[in-house]
Amino acid sequence: MSELADLWAKIEGAKDCKSLLKKYLTKELYEKYKDTKTSLGGTLADCIRSGCLNLDSGVGLYACDPEAYTVFKDLFDAVIKDYHKVPAVNHPQPDFGDINNLGFGDLDPDGKMIVSTRVRVGRSHNEFAFPPSIKSTEQRKQMEKNTLEALNTLEGELAGKYYSLETMTKDEQKQLIEDHFLFKDDDRFLRDAGGYSFWPEGRGIFHNPSKTFLVWINEEDHLRFISMQQGGDLATVYKRLVNAIQQLEKKLTFAKKDGYGYLTFCPTNLGTTLRASVHIKVPKLAAAGKLNALCAGLNLQPRGIHGEHTESEGGIYDVSNKRRLGLTEIEAIQEMRKGVQEIMKAELAL
Ligand code: ADP
Ligand code: ARG
Ligand code: MG
Repeated sequence: MSELADLWAKIEGAKDCKSLLKKYLTKELYEKYKDTKTSLGGTLADCIRSGCLNLDSGVGLYACDPEAYTVFKDLFDAVIKDYHKVPAVNHPQPDFGDINNLGFGDLDPDGKMIVSTRVRVGRSHNEFAFPPSIKSTEQRKQMEKNTLEALNTLEGELAGKYYSLETMTKDEQKQLIEDHFLFKDDDRFLRDAGGYSFWPEGRGIFHNPSKTFLVWINEEDHLRFISMQQGGDLATVYKRLVNAIQQLEKKLTFAKKDGYGYLTFCPTNLGTTLRASVHIKVPKLAAAGKLNALCAGLNLQPRGIHGEHTESEGGIYDVSNKRRLGLTEIEAIQEMRKGVQEIMKAELAL
């Protein structure tokens, strides 16, 4: 049996799998795409491997390379529409809003509930593939080099240094992960999607001295730009990120597609690619078992204290906007801001 047939058999036979891949990869679509390849040689197996090997996936689908969104369109569009709650894949042009007149500031001026605030976006270099279709070390190294050339031109608050995963000590790595600055290397979903191949080659983190602006190189996406700080000052965190994006767009060309926005490895991140989160203390909502339903109704997503696929500690959750496509950057921020304010009200009411 071919690997693809084997993967298909696994997911087709899975009884209690609730992933979007399971929902939308029909027999008909499987037959339609089973022999299709992207021009880089990417296959349906490359896109569905993670979801078939991890039947507890929420989504289960990754784009083997940017062209996957076109050649496997029917499958990707169905998953994208469901995840981002849009009737059609029709993402607007970027709009970061008037960052000097946002109309909001600190969401928790008394510092009682919000521990920290973080906003990130993903970006892909236009000229490189995604992990399953990157076949050589040279490509990853070249990507790292091109990125650093751009990052090293940043000035003022954004200026920083690069720390390669290849030379960092295990202790340094552990500390950065514990402090929420660095990515982990133990996510089985990403591993089975090919995200850890040739680890840690070409991977690393750039950050300013205060670690309020950070860039991840070659984690899940080619690039993640991150702005974060203690407390609830969403406006300052967002402005810093927008400034960084605007500086870096002058130096690098990012992969984009009409209607899909910025292209990312995972379809959940398309569009704005923006995830704005707070680490927020909501012990009462959590104990009452109300947090998940409340978040769902506000288009928010709760995560654990060390991010996706981790648990909460001490009643502190990572709460962020769930939708990234079909709305502008400033709308995604506003959706998160309003939702977080509702959550704070609900916690205080208990
Ligand atoms: P993303 O994919 O958006 O980078 P993950 O869920 O993979 O997010 O988490 C990455 C890291 O970011 C984790 O260490 C997580 O704890 C940290 N993180 C996310 N939001 C916040 C926040 N508001 N404050 C502090 N750390 C955060
Ligand atoms: N593939 C994983 C799942 O379906 C993660 C999906 C979204 N997260 C991400 N980091 N891309 O559960
Ligand atoms: Mg992540």
